Amino acid sequence: MQRVNVVPEQLSFSPVVQGYWRLNDWNMQAQDILRFVEQGLELGITTTDHADVYGAFTEEGLFGQAMKLAPGLRDKIEIVSKCGILFPCEMQPDVQVVHYNNDRDYIIAAAERSLRELHTEYLDVLLIHRPDPLMDADAVAEAFSRLKQSGKVKHFGVSNFSAAKFALLQSRLDFPLVTNQLEISAIHTEYLFDGNLDYLQQQSVKPMAWSCLGGGGVFHDFQYKALRECAEAIGEQHNASLDQVLMAFVLALPSCPIPIIGSGNIERVRQQAAAVDIKLSRQQWFSLLEAARGYTVP
Ligand SMILES: NC(=O)c1ccc[n+]([C@@H]2O[C@H](COP(=O)([O-])OP(=O)(O)OC[C@H]3O[C@@H](n4cnc5c(N)ncnc54)[C@H](OP(=O)(O)O)[C@@H]3O)[C@@H](O)[C@H]2O)c1
Repeated sequence: MQRVNVVPEQLSFSPVVQGYWRLNDWNMQAQDILRFVEQGLELGITTTDHADVYGAFTEEGLFGQAMKLAPGLRDKIEIVSKCGILFPCEMQPDVQVVHYNNDRDYIIAAAERSLRELHTEYLDVLLIHRPDPLMDADAVAEAFSRLKQSGKVKHFGVSNFSAAKFALLQSRLDFPLVTNQLEISAIHTEYLFDGNLDYLQQQSVKPMAWSCLGGGGVFHDFQYKALRECAEAIGEQHNASLDQVLMAFVLALPSCPIPIIGSGNIERVRQQAAAVDIKLSRQQWFSLLEAARGYTVP
């Protein structure tokens, strides 16, 4: 699989990323996680996606146990993590309400916690997880600059940001934001039409795409029956499975999204990674859009 240039000569990703949001549901011990990562590496998947908040603030620690078993692993993978969401849970006893925090000192402390949990000296990329209405762009920029100067985080980005909020934060930084991680799929096409992906393309910033399979809903929810049937019919023409066709829908976008795979099943991961070789025709792509939305384009 050909690698994706994220920052020329500084940072590249595998063409699909392995997401670890659901790691705590996979019933894996450290040794199993390590095996899963190594199997991903055999497929060319080097980039891993995490967040402090995943697994109610325990996912990074679990992944870190696997990192501990294989110190050489760090040089073979890229680690992306996120911060800024807080919610009431055992690990956050002082939190009473779901909220965001993008204050300077909070971001720095959250990144340092991620380093400890993941057993690593640095993050390749740190993202602000959600757009915070109370975000002070100067404070975020200062946190990012300090983390960069200390070598604790190499690159920075955002997630679920509008184009306007991305531009606001970028205007306060003297280095580029490297991605906006967005929900992009046949069933979530908002950013294809609201200018967000156009803006990223204009800025030569590649989005990372989350929940390309609707969080698994596309496989069973009644409302996606027409989409399933359409994708399966298209799949027959490409000798491809339903999930591969839906990944190919995302990969076809000119903003070049980098899909994040959410499965903990290595055979499904293998299958979904192979979607990078599937090229949908325009008519196939628009058929999927129509089947997902239930109406034709004007
Ligand atoms: N930035 C953000 O706000 C944000 C939000 C959500 C997620 N993310 C990132 O994006 C990653 C991917 O999101 P996601 O997990 O929602 O991805 P997804 O691929 O849309 O959904 C994954 C789910 O679909 C199931 N699945 C996959 N292939 C299947 C198949 N062939 N048949 C039946 N079920 C299947 C998986 O179960 P199995 O494990 O059993 O295969 C898993 O439960 C996350 O891990 C996280 O890193 C980011």
